[in-house]
Amino acid sequence: MKRILVTYATMAGSTAEVAQAVGEEIAKSGFQVDVLPLSQVEGLEAFDGVVIGGPMIMGWHRAALRFLRQHRKALQQMPWAAFVMAMSLTQTGEMSLGNMRVTVDDKLPRPPQKEGRLNFRERYARLANYLRPVLLAARPAKPASIGVFGGRLEYGRLKWWAVLFVMMIIQAPPGERRNWPAIRAWAADLPALFEADEV
Ligand SMILES: Cc1cc2nc3c(=O)[nH]c(=O)nc-3n(C[C@H](O)[C@H](O)[C@H](O)COP(=O)(O)O)c2cc1C
Repeated sequence: MKRILVTYATMAGSTAEVAQAVGEEIAKSGFQVDVLPLSQVEGLEAFDGVVIGGPMIMGWHRAALRFLRQHRKALQQMPWAAFVMAMSLTQTGEMSLGNMRVTVDDKLPRPPQKEGRLNFRERYARLANYLRPVLLAARPAKPASIGVFGGRLEYGRLKWWAVLFVMMIIQAPPGERRNWPAIRAWAADLPALFEADEV
């Protein structure tokens, strides 16, 4: 039986629940699935495929980027996917990065205030700006799939500096924006990628 790792970084816990749901969907196709925080992953040798998830925390979670850099060699040899949780995404019509197709939760993007002219915050929250560092960290390994979904933001779970950053830069209202049907639909397509023998 093929064994798949779903591993995640989190700051306030909500990405762990997303990783769990992704793992459940993959397991429905008959894979053995381990869902683990990044800190508990010792190596990728035991796995036939990997999913790496993390939230945007002023850039993709640093531990997730570090993980990609550390394991880029192993990831070149196996199919892998990444998911990104976010509270703010500018609607620019981008659905791909280079020749990489990206699945975007259609409830997440917000149109810019002025059409054709993005302000600082809207430029920051572009899909390409979020994903380029992810692809760079893994290079030359390439993900077979990337998903970008709405997350959860609760000020009560955060330190004061984090609240300040989110209020000033992200300007996303707190709340639950995880779109479970979109997350599960994306995850349900992953087994087909893991089934393929060639990377
Ligand atoms: C300090 C901080 C920085 C964040 N930066 C971004 C960001 O740059 N873009 C974005 O869309 N969301 C940003 N968010 C929102 C988180 O990505 C979102 O709340 C995510 O679901 C949190 O996941 P977690 O509960 O696993 O930590 C930020 C949140 C915090 C607390």
